[in-house]
Amino acid sequence: MAHCLVTGGAGFIGSHVAEALLSRGHRVSVLDDLSGGTAERVPEGAHLFTGSVTDVELVDRLFAEQRFDHVFHFAAFAAEAISHSVKSLNYGTNVMGSVNLINAALRTGVSFFCFASSVAVYGHGETPMRESSIPVPADSYGNAKLTVERELETTMRTQGLPFTAFRMHNVYGEWQNMRDPYRNAVAIFFNQILRGEPISVYGDGGQVRAFSYVKDIVDVIVRAPETEKAWGRAFNVGSSRTNTVLELAQAVRAAAGVPSHPIAHLPARDEVMVAYTATEEAREVFGDWADTPLADGLARTAAWAASVGPAELRSSFEIEIGGERVPEWAQCVADRLSGADR
Ligand SMILES: NC(=O)c1ccc[n+]([C@@H]2O[C@H](COP(=O)([O-])OP(=O)(O)OC[C@H]3O[C@@H](n4cnc5c(N)ncnc54)[C@H](O)[C@@H]3O)[C@@H](O)[C@H]2O)c1
Repeated sequence: MAHCLVTGGAGFIGSHVAEALLSRGHRVSVLDDLSGGTAERVPEGAHLFTGSVTDVELVDRLFAEQRFDHVFHFAAFAAEAISHSVKSLNYGTNVMGSVNLINAALRTGVSFFCFASSVAVYGHGETPMRESSIPVPADSYGNAKLTVERELETTMRTQGLPFTAFRMHNVYGEWQNMRDPYRNAVAIFFNQILRGEPISVYGDGGQVRAFSYVKDIVDVIVRAPETEKAWGRAFNVGSSRTNTVLELAQAVRAAAGVPSHPIAHLPARDEVMVAYTATEEAREVFGDWADTPLADGLARTAAWAASVGPAELRSSFEIEIGGERVPEWAQCVADRLSGADR
């Protein structure tokens, strides 16, 4: 049994990771500032420490007292599309928060560090995105994820801390944050249906994505500490089955039992148009994993969403650069949050 720290363990993917680690017999502690997650989602049996990964004193004290064996770092500011408008929050949380954890891990003898990275590291590169391609992030969020991956490589080489990074994309499932208006298309769409609002799609909805059911990827992630062949590497993990965002909206309507629910088109935004990954490298190391069909995963998510009901929208941050630099689509979301378009 290992003592595992899951940062972001009150959030969506981190809480599933915490649950899976507990069911594998590990002791689990969670560090989360509850900016996006909720205490009620921390699985029974895991201990919640409420606080931020940016709080150096707290992080150092926690590591010194708790003597973690493994760290699963899932806490992040994760609204990618808006990340360049909140640079300080993005880099402060995603880079410096990660550095604080790496330092504390080195000081206290942590034996493995797992990092939640993202396909955002690839930017507008070739598709399917492959680990062998040179990453060129297209936004501040991708820059931050790549920086941490690189720092972990350096730390393993120079100071011997084994790590594995997982480049995930468009993960969905039960307990996804439905309050955040800036990210998680699946959760946004279910919440819009529950709130009786049209489903909002950016541009024509032709963006191509692969949507991954959360439990499929978590089953892979929790095996990283004992999979030595995976150490020192970053892997794509998730589904390679693609859909457009418009198809997703239609599938969500079907899963929720409202196939004619209206779909509204918002101004297009600057985003990667085709994003999905090749996963052979991870499959070679971890073996095959379940690839839950979209309709099945959405049916489970729909049942969960209906059981919790509509969520009040809220943004957990302020846009740092205001005025004309706020993109048109983001202004639409801000108007919605303030009730200006009602
Ligand atoms: N959901 C996806 O499709 C996806 C894709 C690629 C990568 N990721 C990465 O996976 C990780 C988890 O994402 P998620 O979708 O579960 O998001 P989430 O927002 O549900 O979870 C993130 C958690 O981190 C916590 N958090 C945020 N800032 C913190 C801080 N400063 N200190 C402590 N806790 C903090 C939040 O309260 C939340 O509980 C993130 O690192 C994200 O960048 C997610």
